[in-house]
Amino acid sequence: MPDPAKPSLAFTSASPAASSSHSSSNLRLSQISTQIAPMAATAFDASTVPQAPEDALFGLMAAYRRDTDSNKVDLGIGAYRDDNAKPWVLPVVKKADEILRKDPDLNHEYLPIAGLPDFTSASQKLVLGGDSPALKEKRVTSLQTISGTGAVHLGALFLAKFYKTNTERTAYFSDPTWPNHFQIFSNVGLQHKTYPYFSKKTKGLDFDGMTSAIESAPEGSIIVLHACAHNPTGVDATQDQWKKLAGLIRKKKHFPFFDTAYQGFASGDLAQDGWAIRYFVEQGFELCIAQSYAKNFGLYGERAGCFHFVTSPASDAQEVVTRVASQLAILQRSEISNPPAYGARIASTVLNNPELFKEWEANLREMSGRIKEMRSALRSKLEELGTPGTWNHITDQIGMFSFTGLTEEQVLKLREDSHVYMTKNGRISMAGLNTHNVEYFAKAVDKAVRATQ
Ligand SMILES: Cc1ncc(COP(=O)(O)O)c(C=O)c1O
Repeated sequence: MPDPAKPSLAFTSASPAASSSHSSSNLRLSQISTQIAPMAATAFDASTVPQAPEDALFGLMAAYRRDTDSNKVDLGIGAYRDDNAKPWVLPVVKKADEILRKDPDLNHEYLPIAGLPDFTSASQKLVLGGDSPALKEKRVTSLQTISGTGAVHLGALFLAKFYKTNTERTAYFSDPTWPNHFQIFSNVGLQHKTYPYFSKKTKGLDFDGMTSAIESAPEGSIIVLHACAHNPTGVDATQDQWKKLAGLIRKKKHFPFFDTAYQGFASGDLAQDGWAIRYFVEQGFELCIAQSYAKNFGLYGERAGCFHFVTSPASDAQEVVTRVASQLAILQRSEISNPPAYGARIASTVLNNPELFKEWEANLREMSGRIKEMRSALRSKLEELGTPGTWNHITDQIGMFSFTGLTEEQVLKLREDSHVYMTKNGRISMAGLNTHNVEYFAKAVDKAVRATQ
């Protein structure tokens, strides 16, 4: 019996009817041959594309969401929460949003490659100060980016392509740092190393370790610096220490790359949180700045940020900036074409309106003030409980995060016994604490510390 599933391979007729049946048979034949000899299943088997680990922070968020305990506490993600543990839309952002919605001329056209000009110029003034010598001398070029991450990436990509000062081309990060620094710089093909930063003993800055590593790095290395409210430790250099660092970086002809994700959010004072960058610029450094508006405007998901390149004062400074800007525009065009409009419009509306700007400063003080209150409350509750160890670092540290000094074992115990979620390195997002849960958290820490003595 012939198999009905098998096509007949005998084509003998040449009549038109036969010819059409001929071509449909050919089609059927080619369909079947595809089934007989399937395409290779994938070009991306496990040896070429191994399973990557889940992003630690986003994994932690998912675990928190799955937990059904009513006392659960989220101290993982770096996003501001109000006293009821809810996300906070800044009142000034709501106002700016209203203004934008009512604007009859607003449309959804593309922004220029470098972004919204009013936004980038206001961002320059914010980070450098309105009277910055670099702005007066037109030594700055800026591009709107996909928040701070995009700004770090654009800067790293630019350096990977064009920074040829030494053969090593290594970026130095603080140990520890925001973990994304590692992947961003290695994705663009730059090497990276770390310099000591956090002293486990004092839970403060290991300034000697930091300076000696920067001193021994090959001349012309890229030194990545957190401008303020260091993530994850909450430990910043003092102004005196920044001055010493600047001297050392100048001596070694290193290239400073500032990451500023918390201006105004750390101390509540924009100038104070911008001091280190402004000092380096006054000293005449050529440098990069990656600026984020995620935290200080609460525009996390809107991805508003800015990348700035500042060149040193020199007779050809404007020409340098023009050339650099032209290359940055090509990099930006090939990656995102042009940046998203909404977040930048919100920030720009506020930054360019003196009244709204003042309101924004008040909103910043409210956020940083609540965090400072939580620092004091946590410290005093731990001290009241007599929890073994010292807890002054909780109030000495600044910004969104505190590096508690809790061990991985204690962190896991806190998660299992008390439903408290924090990263394994002992970092807590202070914004996750509030008047309703700070005591619960302090007691949970006390229990975990005593149980692991
Ligand atoms: C040090 C540092 N740099 C950059 C960023 C970038 O954040 P985003 O891309 O959300 O602006 C963050 C966010 O946590 C950060 O802490």
